[in-house]
Amino acid sequence: MGLHNRGCDILGIEVPIVLAGMGGASTPRLAAAVSNAGGLGILGAAACGPNELRSWIAETRSLTDRPFGVDTLLPASVRRGKSTAAPKGGPSPMEQVPRHQEFARKFLETEGLEEPPPRVADPGSDEAATFTKGFFEAQMEVVIEQKVPVYAAGLGNPAPWLERMRANGTKVLAVVGAVRHARQVAETGLDIIVAQGHDAGGHNSPIGTMALVPQVVDAVGDIPVLAAGGITDGRGIAAAFMLGAQGAWIGSAFLATEEATLFDYQKKAIVDATDEGTTVSRSITGKPARQIKNRWAKAYENAEIDPLPMPFQSFIASPIMQAAMHANRADIWPGFAGQGIGMIKEIVPAADLLKRLVRETETVLATR
Ligand SMILES: Cc1cc2nc3c(=O)[nH]c(=O)nc-3n(C[C@H](O)[C@H](O)[C@H](O)COP(=O)(O)O)c2cc1C
Repeated sequence: MGLHNRGCDILGIEVPIVLAGMGGASTPRLAAAVSNAGGLGILGAAACGPNELRSWIAETRSLTDRPFGVDTLLPASVRRGKSTAAPKGGPSPMEQVPRHQEFARKFLETEGLEEPPPRVADPGSDEAATFTKGFFEAQMEVVIEQKVPVYAAGLGNPAPWLERMRANGTKVLAVVGAVRHARQVAETGLDIIVAQGHDAGGHNSPIGTMALVPQVVDAVGDIPVLAAGGITDGRGIAAAFMLGAQGAWIGSAFLATEEATLFDYQKKAIVDATDEGTTVSRSITGKPARQIKNRWAKAYENAEIDPLPMPFQSFIASPIMQAAMHANRADIWPGFAGQGIGMIKEIVPAADLLKRLVRETETVLATR
């Protein structure tokens, strides 16, 4: 095919279009559909414990014999224990948890939502799992044990695991939001860098995609770069090539597919949204993340307290998300999404979307 390039050779795929790792949404069915159609499907495994990750990998392997990837988060602040430290003279995040739990409880009450039964362990207990140092490290052991074709670090630097993954033949990617971070991961000698700009859904850079991509390309020498953030159709992919990228890492556009693991009310919120439909807030994970505008993010904007750092804010937000999903409340938790969602008008099979993206890109490149 006309779009095939060096990035494709590295990843063993036909076209340089990659399904972004999206926690909970990029599950085996979606990832396999994208890989089977010639792109690269990446599992959004950030919240998967080791056993769940093993079973996701097995399911993906049962659905495709093509390369696929696993995306997890490796936030340096958590791995170095920085996020648990108390700011000078102030209470530690752990000490602030009860105040935020009370804020969340009142929010549920005001919104007429029922508090769900606790799904995750209390952040103070020994079994507290998700988004802790031990949790991230256990995920990496599964990535290595399972010899996955591709690994992507959605946050942080995969350097400590690089040698072992390389020995397995795993291609290693890292998502960056600044040239400084791109240089750090480039030094480790990984295979591909994803430059993800401010337009993107989920965890977010302060720098716009259009400005970030060429600066990362210039900074990392021979390492291929994938552009991410706001790329929703063939024009965006063609633009990524013009900026020096080898391909596109696409999230939100794949949320509007039949295979994406999202509630129907969330898919509808994407189709209904306009270019002004998203906001950046720390209210879900503790790090700035782009999401469809909602009342939980707004509540924090209007509150006297700021969201807690990762990983503590996830424990506060989790019951809100659960309650909203249970009640189909798009006004409370519609989900993460990027600024390109104004362009999304329908839900389609993932393979059809991939084919359309290829066709549009080829047309744009041929007629410019
Ligand atoms: C619903 C959703 C969940 C996401 N979860 C993750 C995640 O778990 N890990 C990660 O590295 N990036 C995550 N992201 C960011 C994507 O990997 C990707 O960089 C982003 O979607 C690209 O921008 P776009 O949505 O405009 O295409 C998420 C994005 C969305 C929309």
